[in-house]
Amino acid sequence: MKPLIAETFSVSPVSNELGWDSLEVRLLAGRRPMLEARGLTKYYGSVLAVQSIDFALEPGQVLGYLGPNGSGKSTTVKMLIGLLEPTSGQVLFHGKNIQHDLVGYRKHLGYVPEEANLYPYLTGLEYLELVGTVRGMSPPRMKAKIDSFLELFSLFPHRHVALSSYSKGMRQRILLISALMDNPDVLILDEPLSGLDVTSALIFKNLIQSLSARGKTIFIVLMFSKSSKRFVRAC
Ligand SMILES: Nc1ncnc2c1ncn2[C@@H]1O[C@H](COP(=O)(O)OP(=O)(O)OP(=O)(O)O)[C@@H](O)[C@H]1O
Ligand SMILES: [Mg+2]
Repeated sequence: MKPLIAETFSVSPVSNELGWDSLEVRLLAGRRPMLEARGLTKYYGSVLAVQSIDFALEPGQVLGYLGPNGSGKSTTVKMLIGLLEPTSGQVLFHGKNIQHDLVGYRKHLGYVPEEANLYPYLTGLEYLELVGTVRGMSPPRMKAKIDSFLELFSLFPHRHVALSSYSKGMRQRILLISALMDNPDVLILDEPLSGLDVTSALIFKNLIQSLSARGKTIFIVLMFSKSSKRFVRAC
């Protein structure tokens, strides 16, 4: 399924891109959206950061959320993962407000933050094992997933090196692995290409395509640029 691209922040990507309202889209697809934003709005004091965002994403859909600095992308992401409560509006997962069961919702969620403070004294492998343990993955499944993702992102030989010695791109790849390793239904990625070289970006794009084909719902924040648009359209 082709991704939808929201280029401004006061529109419904579903209705704008396809020319149908979201109810028609749902009926045509014959299934309910996995992730929805309804009238999502956030004020920081008197500063309006996000205004009335609406979208409805079905399984397999990829939404590229593009905008310039300060346009409210990361604020939207924080509301989508339940880290910030919206001033008004709501986020729904399978039709239910995420605020009613945040713990349950987060079990289905993979998240890459815009900036992360990785524990510098842990090795890449130790960090991923920590994430897998917190997520309740069984040790054999966790090991299999970690090993295959480390191989895929060319980090296997560096797995015993402390994160403080990793380059920015290596740390970003660790963050991507930690978001993907528990096979989440919903992926929310805030500038996931940040620091990635061409090869890693290509691997990432192929991963997004295969995850979309497997019915995952993916929300990707990217800086507003022609190459970002090309990236999302190619997914
Ligand atoms: N914790 C906060 N307190 C007050 N204002 C904030 C806070 N976080 C963000 N803002 C303001 O909200 C607006 C949107 O910020 P946000 O970080 O969501 O934008 P962004 O699109 O992610 O920007 P960037 O491309 O630089 O990452 C900005 O005007 C910012 O200054
Ligand atoms: Mg941001």
